Amino acid sequence: MQINGKTKVYGLLANPVEHTISPFIHELFYEECNHNGTYNPYLVASGKLEDAIKGMKALSIEGLNVTVPYKVDVMEYLDEIDDMAAFIGACNTIVRELNADGREILKGYNTDWIGLKMACDHENIPVKGRDVVIVGGGGSARAVAFMCQKEGAKSLLLLNRTESKAGLIAKQVQKVNAEISIKTGSLEDLHLISKGSVAFQTTSLGMHPNVDKSPIENDEFFSNVDFIVDIIYNPKETFFMKKGKDFGVTTMNGLGMLFFQAVKAFELWSGIVMTKEQLDSAFEKLDNYVYTKKI
Ligand code: ATR
Repeated sequence: MQINGKTKVYGLLANPVEHTISPFIHELFYEECNHNGTYNPYLVASGKLEDAIKGMKALSIEGLNVTVPYKVDVMEYLDEIDDMAAFIGACNTIVRELNADGREILKGYNTDWIGLKMACDHENIPVKGRDVVIVGGGGSARAVAFMCQKEGAKSLLLLNRTESKAGLIAKQVQKVNAEISIKTGSLEDLHLISKGSVAFQTTSLGMHPNVDKSPIENDEFFSNVDFIVDIIYNPKETFFMKKGKDFGVTTMNGLGMLFFQAVKAFELWSGIVMTKEQLDSAFEKLDNYVYTKKI
């Protein structure tokens, strides 16, 4: 769409920013919805994050995403933080909105967890009432753990190379949800996995170009899980997913999470809820772009 005086401006704060595919994804939404918007990458130099947020206010930028390395630091410059973003301790979406007093504020959200939930729903991967095993103990594992407790998982098992980091996440999740059963272990504690579990792989092991790497290779893991979600989307099928498939496990990669976190951000900014047809059409174009153009 031709940019004009009414074009809504969105974008991404990051450093580096040149490899992002978010502009491509958001432009798909504008096309599908006939929305007059533009999505721009903004390289924010170290130490300039506060200035960038002031700039967002001054320029009336409609909405911004935030990614590495600013997802945690950005929160101190915003007027309000959504509860789930506060629990997860990271914010990837800034929304200009009116607070209870009618004053315009910048509020921080985390759409990564919602994106993952929406992607699971889209692929019929269950969480509610299920035993969940999360591999990893970083920021992504934390977002997955909070998503699973919110969506009513029966139990959580956090397995991480550094077990103490899994323990910290377990403590924080248990604080907001006393009902859910949570255990932690190392990557070798596979005997702790309940049969039929839903597994989330949240480490970067197996990501291009290290496609033959996996945090867990032991058959005991793959014979006990029914579903595997790997948050990596490049390659399309990780070693971890391939191994799962050999055991008849249903698998999903991370492209859906990336897509739906953008869908949710667009929804928060514009109020537009895309139809299933629009979502399917945009996702097909993204899949094609990522896996046939070899970005
Ligand atoms: P993110 O915020 O994307 O989750 P992160 O915070 O760097 O990224 O976390 C990466 C996770 O991958 C960590 O849990 C890390 O394990 P440690 O907590 O022990 O550091 C895990 N990870 C990274 N490289 C790994 C490896 N070679 N083997 C096992 N786990 C690994």
